[in-house]
Amino acid sequence: MAEKMKPEADVGLIGLAVMGQNLVLNMADHGYRVAVYNRTTSTMVEFVTEHPDTPGGLIPCKTLSSFVRHLKRPRKVIVLVQAGPAVDAVVTQLTRYLEKGDIIIDGGNSIWTDTIRRERELVAKGIHFVGSGVSGGEEGARFGPSLMPGGSKKAWRQIRPIWNAIAAKVDRKTGRPIEGAVPGKPVSGGVACTAHIGPDGAGHYVKMIHNGIEYGDMQLICEAFMLMKQLLGMSPGEMSKVFSAWNRGDLDSFLIQITADILQQRDPANPRHFLVDAILDAAGQKGTGKWTSVNALDMGVPAPSIAEAVFARCMSALKEERVGASRVLHGPRHLRKVPRKKFIDAIKDALYCAKICSYAQGFSLMTEATREYGWKLKFGQIAMIWRSGCIIRAGFLQKIKDAYDRNPRLPNLLLDPYFKRKLHTAQAHWRYVVSMASTTGVPIPQMMSALAYFDSYRSKVLPANLLQAQRDYFGAHTFERVDSPRGQMYHVDWPTDERPHVRVR
Ligand code: 6PG
Repeated sequence: MAEKMKPEADVGLIGLAVMGQNLVLNMADHGYRVAVYNRTTSTMVEFVTEHPDTPGGLIPCKTLSSFVRHLKRPRKVIVLVQAGPAVDAVVTQLTRYLEKGDIIIDGGNSIWTDTIRRERELVAKGIHFVGSGVSGGEEGARFGPSLMPGGSKKAWRQIRPIWNAIAAKVDRKTGRPIEGAVPGKPVSGGVACTAHIGPDGAGHYVKMIHNGIEYGDMQLICEAFMLMKQLLGMSPGEMSKVFSAWNRGDLDSFLIQITADILQQRDPANPRHFLVDAILDAAGQKGTGKWTSVNALDMGVPAPSIAEAVFARCMSALKEERVGASRVLHGPRHLRKVPRKKFIDAIKDALYCAKICSYAQGFSLMTEATREYGWKLKFGQIAMIWRSGCIIRAGFLQKIKDAYDRNPRLPNLLLDPYFKRKLHTAQAHWRYVVSMASTTGVPIPQMMSALAYFDSYRSKVLPANLLQAQRDYFGAHTFERVDSPRGQMYHVDWPTDERPHVRVR
């Protein structure tokens, strides 16, 4: 493979793991000529050899300097390496060769604060830095991911044609995903699931929230599975049919659909059994859900559903400890006398209501982030970008888009008329499921926590008056009074007699 030295590549990509390879093939399917570089040259050579006839064409590059020389100006370099120090290392090497006006695009799951730092450092050198969320896994990268780019508007104008071309598409009228892409024949037409999210780290921030919501969706589905298994004694095959039916209604989504697929899968090593039963119940995680939860704590935004989903993974990972505890800690005996059809309908409603709460929390975080970082996130647009291509793609997102179309300043999704109506009609089922789980000892932390969120959020009065008194009692931390203007602080010497309060300021 001789390396030509005329700048003829429209775009370059560094990092040829599966996501990188698929993104390259996606761009090439849309007629873009892509220069490719990988630290391990043999991976790059193998990849290019395996794909001799891509429509746009691939330019194999064995060194970073030749890779950069092959790129048309302004150079657009997509970096798809492991988030963290590897991104810094590649960016440092690249900047030795790049020039003012060139653009580096980090398509990994980088934490948004790193993206803000990198953007600042590169802007000082005249180089644009785009942190772009890329969601959809391997399949999405190949045939249309959901793309969430941040960075300057100038950089966005340069990458927009490529991003619009390779992103997933939804039908302009129905908002439904347009599917059916095959190698060499990408889908055309429709609305692209991408848009400029905002400056510096905004794209990666929104991708992180997507992942927090993804954790929440997955955990809720797992809780529905747990309830059907433990309270109804259903087999994976039976549950698969339930999830398939749910996928034809309000809950229709990629995650429900793959759950239906997963549950009917037989174990190749033991075909009389279902594969899911042979998989160890200890979950992994790479950090994006944790970052979302830490960010919620940092900003003081209640996002318990997302945090609960992260903790549920942590709890699952304590496999040996749980096995030991199961021998000595007893709960109530499981009751099996639950009416199956009625209970399945109730689980569906519980899942839907808890899902609304989880999304409400994700969007509340983004609302606070707009204040914290001075971004102008467009929530309806973000929901639109998530309607296809990404892991949380679902019909449900159209409802969120509609909600923000109705009121772009909606303080919380629970207050939107559509979601309010849903919660009002379905909450009896939700409460029934939570109470059944609690009396029978089935762990459904997220459905329970979401209900507490809903009840707290709709409570005019919470017991924080007592809490403030406690704080003032032991630490003179002061309190406000219900009959004084907000911000007027008081303190008393506890235990106190009839002496007047001390106004603090
Ligand atoms: C996506 C996903 C992806 C994520 C995996 C695994 O949008 O395509 O969010 O970015 O890395 O889902 O994440 P965990 O290992 O943390 O579950």
